[in-house]
Amino acid sequence: PSEKGWLVSQMYQFQGRWHTQALLQGILKCQKHFEAQDSDIILVTNPKSGTTWLKALVFALINRHKLPVSSGKHPLLVTNPHLLVPFLEGVYYESPGFDFSALPSPRLMNTHISHLSLPESVKSSSCKIVYCCRNPKDMFVSLWHFGKKLAPEETADYPIEKAVEAFCEGKFIGGPFWDHVLEYWYTSRENPNKVLFVTYEDLKKQTGNEIKRIAEFLGCGFIGDEEVRDIVRLCSFESLSTLEVNREGKLPNGMETKAFFRKGEIGGWRDTLSESLAEQIDKTMEEKFQGSGLKFSC
Ligand code: A3P
Repeated sequence: PSEKGWLVSQMYQFQGRWHTQALLQGILKCQKHFEAQDSDIILVTNPKSGTTWLKALVFALINRHKLPVSSGKHPLLVTNPHLLVPFLEGVYYESPGFDFSALPSPRLMNTHISHLSLPESVKSSSCKIVYCCRNPKDMFVSLWHFGKKLAPEETADYPIEKAVEAFCEGKFIGGPFWDHVLEYWYTSRENPNKVLFVTYEDLKKQTGNEIKRIAEFLGCGFIGDEEVRDIVRLCSFESLSTLEVNREGKLPNGMETKAFFRKGEIGGWRDTLSESLAEQIDKTMEEKFQGSGLKFSC
């Protein structure tokens, strides 16, 4: 375990990655028990990189014939995306009796597990992975505020300078951040049928185009412009964050659903990070991503 954990709890290193105790237990069980099917769709993110949004978008996309968005009775209007799309290692940790085989096909799930630590069947089967990455400064700041909401007493005295330092040293849930991103980035280059790499920023700037790209990758068939527009609208920050279920709801683990909706912007880090802290992150990322072809425009 690390001497001082990232923000909210002590963290443990496993296969070169840092995890909270709870998530590590879930990952170990997942590695042992999860059997991927060829038709599975797995959404992979670092925490605070747009997981909730991606869950909503892909859920709406793959179910659009069964559950037309235009009907006005869509499940996303009354159910939080995290309850519609199970979180693999979270379920293994919190709900050991959960039956993954009972999920309708194609099964849609999400995880924060690094490529290195994925269950073997996820790599060997033909299941598809959609990886969503967010620029590190916004993601860091999002987690910083999330931690403050979730565990105010544990985070109150924790200086942001220390948190940035830990992040840049790689101590971050599922981190080092750059290893997590680069593994999926390179896999998406080597095997574009297996991993689709999208970014929060592209999703934000051109949501419709990105939905079409995801649809093509998943082999969802033709999707019309009107259907795309309906999905964009239904899953937008403005729409989801104002629904009662997301303002007032709770997840089975007691977490308030509103904690997953804060600002939903690009570049919001400027309100929280000083110039020198931002530079520290930029410098680290520049070094780590050098030669990879990956750049963050924020
Ligand atoms: P901010 O804290 O910067 O606002 P995750 O779902 O991975 O936990 O990520 C949460 C981040 O995604 C939060 O970022 C949240 O506001 C943002 N988010 C949630 N739903 C969104 C949506 N529909 N569109 C855009 N951003 C969204």
